[in-house]
Amino acid sequence: MAIEHEVETTGLVGWIDRRFPMTSTWKKHVSEYYAPKNFNFWYFFGSLALLVLVNQIVTGIFLTMNYKPDATLAFSSVEYIMREVPWGWLIRYMHSTGASMFFVVVYLHMFRGLMYGSYRKPRELVWIFGCAIFLSLMAEAFFGYLLPWGQMSFWGAQVIVNLFSAIPFIGPDLSLWIRGDYVVSDVTLNRFFAFHVIAIPLVLIGLVVAHLVALHEVGSNNPDGIEIKAKKDPDGIPLDGIPFHPYYSVHDFMGVSVFLIIFAAIIFFAPEMGGYFLEANNFIPANPLQTPQEIAPVWYFTAFYAMLRATTDPFKIVLMIIVALLGLFALVRARGKWKLGLPVLAVLVVLAMAFTESKFWGVVVMGSAVISLFFLPWLDRSPVKSIRYRPFFHKVFYGIFVLAFLTLGFLGTKPPSPASTLIAQVCALIYFAFFLGMPVWTRLGTFKQPPERVRFKPH
Ligand code: HEM
Repeated sequence: MAIEHEVETTGLVGWIDRRFPMTSTWKKHVSEYYAPKNFNFWYFFGSLALLVLVNQIVTGIFLTMNYKPDATLAFSSVEYIMREVPWGWLIRYMHSTGASMFFVVVYLHMFRGLMYGSYRKPRELVWIFGCAIFLSLMAEAFFGYLLPWGQMSFWGAQVIVNLFSAIPFIGPDLSLWIRGDYVVSDVTLNRFFAFHVIAIPLVLIGLVVAHLVALHEVGSNNPDGIEIKAKKDPDGIPLDGIPFHPYYSVHDFMGVSVFLIIFAAIIFFAPEMGGYFLEANNFIPANPLQTPQEIAPVWYFTAFYAMLRATTDPFKIVLMIIVALLGLFALVRARGKWKLGLPVLAVLVVLAMAFTESKFWGVVVMGSAVISLFFLPWLDRSPVKSIRYRPFFHKVFYGIFVLAFLTLGFLGTKPPSPASTLIAQVCALIYFAFFLGMPVWTRLGTFKQPPERVRFKPH
């Protein structure tokens, strides 16, 4: 039974409600949105991501008032914001720190989803919108990074756009089309500015709205991974649900307060964060004639960047062997139309790999690392959602996966060496084995019986 949301009929609110669904929307999404009462620490990060999104938009609007998207003026306009514009330094640091904190918050938010199986039925679309948000966020950060027109902005964009030229046949034309010039130039800066300040933010906002509408359609998951809608009172209210407002608005206000303390501490005491949030090379104006010694992306991209660098010629051969083995496995195990389709696909991929350079496969590996996330709802076959009721070895697998990802992230910040490349290759294989093996390993082991009602200790 759907919950009826009563609306006002008198006064100003009544007047508006007869013309616009104000009270009913507030009730549906806030004061009568019943969320599980056992939310924990990990549930702070959704509202924090919203807060950071607002921070980025508001500070971005103010930055735009003094920033000049022109290759001859961009660098000095940022210096001008930092030194001359009243409070400009604060606005700029709020925006640059906000970019990194966005990724901190979103990575933790995604990890929560992974732990509690929040991507499983019926929340597949919540997850898919989330993955699309993650992709857009990466694009947003990439485009934004060119704008200060420092050495790292310029050479980072140069390296990433050049990757597209590795795509067979269309690559060189494609990278020329993206840049709008033969090298990263004023033309590139102008279009990246357009994408950064309007195109991607619009997409992001749209996706966040879709993410929340989808979530509110099916209801929130919780740390026990059981559906609170399965047990309702006679009024149709979940027995383990509490209204979002005031209970979780107060809870999130506490999270926001702690977050703002950390955020302010970084802005005021360590805005460069030892070169992780703002790199030293980006305090030097872009110089197309001088390549910096080391070109490394900002920390939130380094795990994916390390996978790209790890795809060397010998690693390509390892990948070819793995694809061939998977094809063989499909030939033995697959049924129906997949029986021949998958092995044929594997043979085609191996042949394509043999005739194309490893740089292209590095791009494919890097892209697949993000795309794999979209398939999680269908890869995970465990009979329970939450990590709490899964066998111990599942927790070990999650731990190894996270460790491999963090190691890749660390290695991506360092110059490559033979040893670090080997470690990155092993970690990349672990990353993909986690996803590819999921349909098998998530079914294995002895699962605990999840409780009938959520576990909750009042405090
Ligand atoms: C701008 C970025 C994002 C914003 C503003 C955002 C916002 C939110 C909010 C407010 C919630 C409800 C509160 C909560 O459960 O924490 C939520 C839930 C959720 N989000 Fe996001 N999100 C973002 C990115 C992502 C990404 C990148 C993913 C995954 C790839 C994701 C997956 C989920 C899932 C699965 C839920 C449901 C969790 C549950 O019910 O247990 N979100 N999001």
